[in-house]
Amino acid sequence: MNVKKAIIPAAGLGTRFLPATKAMPKEMLPIVDKPTIQYIVEEAIASGIEDIIIVTGKGKRAIEDHFDHAFELEDNLYKKGKLDLLERVKRPGSVDIHYIRQKEPKGLGHAVWCARKFIGNEPFAVLLGDDIVRSDEPCLKQLINQYEETDASIIGVKQVPEEETSRYGIISPKDQNGRRYQVEHFVEKPAPGEAPSRLAIMGRYILTPEIMELLDNQGEGAGGEIQLTDAIERLNATKPVYGYEFEGDRYDVGDQLGFIKTTIAMALERSDMHDDVLSAIYEIVENAEASKH
Ligand code: G1P
Repeated sequence: MNVKKAIIPAAGLGTRFLPATKAMPKEMLPIVDKPTIQYIVEEAIASGIEDIIIVTGKGKRAIEDHFDHAFELEDNLYKKGKLDLLERVKRPGSVDIHYIRQKEPKGLGHAVWCARKFIGNEPFAVLLGDDIVRSDEPCLKQLINQYEETDASIIGVKQVPEEETSRYGIISPKDQNGRRYQVEHFVEKPAPGEAPSRLAIMGRYILTPEIMELLDNQGEGAGGEIQLTDAIERLNATKPVYGYEFEGDRYDVGDQLGFIKTTIAMALERSDMHDDVLSAIYEIVENAEASKH
């Protein structure tokens, strides 16, 4: 069965970006001129996803407005002949976006479970909004290709430094076939020094629908939350779940330094601003160096 549906959890509070996120969803913070969630939606579309369900929460209305038609704005841009901008604000055409609210902040596993009726009995994708991936072949498409080969759940992973392992879900690999790993265990946020490897889960998943039944009765895990990783660990006990070390650069926009790095990287990707941004960076660095002496 093809992977045509995706869940994007977007109910988090964004406390790392307060006060910016006091009255605005963190998913709407812009990287250059696009909200972070739009990068995620575009990756899903480029990977062949046809229906997206965004799991929202209180104060997230701006996300729905963003992916809706904006008649007055579009009409205004059209009348002024600003056709380039008009193209950029139009809602993405090839995908339907649906919304459901997570009524209590009970963790990622619970957010995914909230979309169970929308998913039904199909394999589906999960994309986390804090992880933006830039690659020639979209990250999610790489995972879908692996799903098509194996008919099994596939979790996107990347190597992280030892000291960062406690921030992620970590896999303990038992066998490797190119970039694909058979997994012995999945552990959510292992204590420092206790990670079984440096292969961290990076916010991209293809899951088979049995995961929803496991989430039905998944108890609390790390941080007192219902963890998706814990349900994946249980799924793996009955049906193999693979890790796949995807190609491309992953940026963490859920963290302040990561957000700044992503902004610079995305600005440099744009041919209309690459040279200006690069010279601005050199100038800032030179001034910072000069002020040290
Ligand atoms: C979540 C997942 C974790 C994963 C991480 C990737 O954690 O629970 O397994 O490694 O996303 O960004 P969070 O960052 O929401 O705490």
